[in-house]
This record gives sequence, structure tokens and C-alpha cells, in this order.
Amino acid sequence: MATAGKVIKCKAAVAWAPNKPLVIEEIEVAPPQANEVRIKIVATGLCHTDLYHLFEGMHKDGFPAVLGHEGAGIVESVGPGVTEFQPGDKVIPLFISQCQECRFCKNPKTNQCDKGWAAERYDVMALDDSRFTCKGKKVLQFMGTSTFSEYTVINQIAVAKIDPAAPLEKVCLFGCGVCTGFGAAVNTAKVEPGSTCAVFGLGAVGLAAVMGCKFAGAKRIIAVDVNPDKFEKAKVFGATEFVNPKDHNKPISQVLAEMTDGGVDYSLECVGNVGVMRSALESCVAGWGVSVIVGWTDMHDFAARPLQLITGRTWKGSLFGGFKSKDGVPKMVKAYLDKKVKLDEFITHHMTLAQINDGIELMKQGKCIRTVLSVSPQ
Ligand SMILES: NC(=O)c1ccc[n+]([C@@H]2O[C@H](COP(=O)([O-])OP(=O)(O)OC[C@H]3O[C@@H](n4cnc5c(N)ncnc54)[C@H](O)[C@@H]3O)[C@@H](O)[C@H]2O)c1
Ligand SMILES: [Zn+2]
Ligand SMILES: [Zn+2]
Repeated sequence: MATAGKVIKCKAAVAWAPNKPLVIEEIEVAPPQANEVRIKIVATGLCHTDLYHLFEGMHKDGFPAVLGHEGAGIVESVGPGVTEFQPGDKVIPLFISQCQECRFCKNPKTNQCDKGWAAERYDVMALDDSRFTCKGKKVLQFMGTSTFSEYTVINQIAVAKIDPAAPLEKVCLFGCGVCTGFGAAVNTAKVEPGSTCAVFGLGAVGLAAVMGCKFAGAKRIIAVDVNPDKFEKAKVFGATEFVNPKDHNKPISQVLAEMTDGGVDYSLECVGNVGVMRSALESCVAGWGVSVIVGWTDMHDFAARPLQLITGRTWKGSLFGGFKSKDGVPKMVKAYLDKKVKLDEFITHHMTLAQINDGIELMKQGKCIRTVLSVSPQ
């Protein structure tokens, strides 16, 4: 590679400040340092967590940054000490690392890892160190990935090598939303065959949760969203019933209890709203109901009556669907290539990096499931 060892100048969508449109800028991407990999990003999805950081999180720190954490690309060059990757490898950046060595990585009960931004700077969702500069300023790498850039540099503990046959403009969605929702149902809730499930929020994360419930053998899957346009897609992924809370003048938990003889076996909150989290918990049946929080927010405390849990419900959270990232992502890519999971059906729009603000607008207005941006076309 002619670019190896040199600074690469390329295009990236820079978030200069919260609540402002992204700006396509020329940035400088430094060569990879020890244990790092420089990746040409071919395609990226746009996830609600990018919007959360930009519009909802209210963080003044964490800017300027390049957002994006649902990408796929090709290794351009590697830094000293990297033996797992070579230029030309197809890879997916991981927003949760898997170093294989820390006490979390060694424990099969969790997918947390002691390294990376999530362990150090949960507040601003980026490490202080970055390989990006723009107009003489350091630009942070959101979630350690920054896929809204033609090139990015990532520590090898946060990169997964995938099957060379994988179409990057599709499998990028395994970098976040699809693994997150699917795994929340299969790995975290551990949905059982014959069970009744409810999924709150039918973006890509919620639809992947519906797919996970179906994959695990759920008999009834109740899809809940305030936007009824989402129901048709939910049916494609296996939802059997559809509820719009706006159609009822009683609490949604009561509606679901009446539909299910006392509550669902599993509920998954895929919105990021503490009120919905409570509703999802209260929609579970006493005795054994399990409710999983998938939606992302650090803005408010949540609340529930202790009796909800005392009477036998379990409340859990799920990060990246409970998948150990480096192990799980290549397996999900393989499952897609083997036609065991759906993926194409999540993609409703294709755009270029230059159109990213239009993609953000579509998501804000609930008009897309996933927009895939082509970043550096192959
Ligand atoms: N835990 C994780 O590891 C993880 C990873 C990725 C995304 N997330 C989070 O998952 C959530 C969903 O992400 P997405 O990309 O699918 O978002 P999205 O914006 O595409 O979808 C959210 C859906 O929720 C619906 N909704 C809004 N208010 C509702 C309500 N009161 N009741 C029912 N439905 C409601 C919206 O209509 C929309 O269909 C976000 O909070 C995101 O930050 C978490
Ligand atoms: Zn995400
Ligand atoms: Zn680790």
C-alpha cells in the first residue's frame, strides 16, 4: 500500500458541537501506532446512539468528534505488533473491545472489557487519544470507531475479521444494531421456545430483537411502537401482533396483560426512554417475566415499584446484545451468509457520506429503519 506509514488526508463528517449538523471536512488520519489497524471504511449504518450523542446526551465534552460505530471496511495498513490482521482483510470495527485478557473477557458471563472507551470515558463516549486532526485541532473518535470517515484507526482489540465473501455494504449493520437487538433476545433475555414476547420500539434494534425472539422459538411476538408505519416491517421479522400505545387510553402494560393472561414472558425495551423501560417491566408476567433494557440513555434515573421485582420479575440490561464482540460478529456474518438471519430487510435507504445530514433527518423523523452510507466506495 502506497499510503502505509503516511498520514492520509480524507473526507469525514465532523461533529464540531452538539445540536449542529455534521460538516464534511478534510481530516488527517495518522498512521496506526503499536497494536493499531488503519481501516478504509466502505460502508456505515447510522444508529440512534449517534443521534443520542449529538442531540440528546447534552454533553458539551466529547466534541469535536467523528461519530459512527456501525461500519465495515478493509484494512489499509497495520501498526507494529499486529499479527492478526493484514492489508486487504475485511473487518468490522467494534464499539466494545474484546482484549481476551482482562477479567471481563475471561468471564463467560459478560461481554464487557476492561479496555477501550467504555471502560475509561463512559461519559463522553470517546478516549482522549485520537489519530484524527482537522484544521489543526484534535478530533475525537466516538465509541473508539468513527465510521463516518473514509479512514479510521482502531486498536486491534476492537476489530473483527470477517468472511471475505461478506458484502460490506450490508454486514456493516452487524457492527451495532442487528447484533444488539438479536443478542438482547437470544443471549440476554434467553427467550425460550413457545414463549410470549413484547418488543417496545421498532427501529433496527427492536426489529432485530423481534428477529431474535422468532429465532429462539417464541410463539407470540407483540410489536409495540407509537409509529404504526413500523408494523409492516415488524411482520417481516416475525412479529405476530401489533400495538400502538396511542390507540389506548389505559397503560400499555394493562393492554398487554389483557392480551396475554397476565403479562408476557419476555419484554425488550429498544427505545431509550425511562418511562418505556418501566412499562416494559410492568408488562412482564409476575413469577418469571424477564425485561431487558436495550435503549440507550444516561439522562434520567428510572423508577419502578419494588413489588414488581419482589414478585419474581427480573430486570436486566444488554450492551451489544451480550455478544463478546470479536467472537460474536464473525459468527453473525456467517449466519447471514448461511441465510440463518435476515439483514437486507433492515436497509431502507442508501446514501453517500456527503448526504449524512439527510440520513440523520430521516431517522429523527422515523422514516427509515437503517440508512447505509457508502463512505469510500470499493
Ligand atoms: N444497548 C446497546 O448496546 C445499544 C446499541 C445500539 C443502540 N442502542 C439504543 O437502542 C435504541 C434504539 O435504537 P435504533 O437505532 O433502533 O433507534 P430508532 O430511532 O430507529 O428506533 C426507535 C423506535 O422507538 C419508537 N418509539 C419512540 N417512542 C416510543 C414509545 N414511547 N413507545 C414505543 N415505541 C417508541 C420509535 O417510533 C422508533 O421506531 C436507542 O436508544 C439506541 O441508542 C443501544
Ligand atoms: Zn449503535
Ligand atoms: Zn478485555
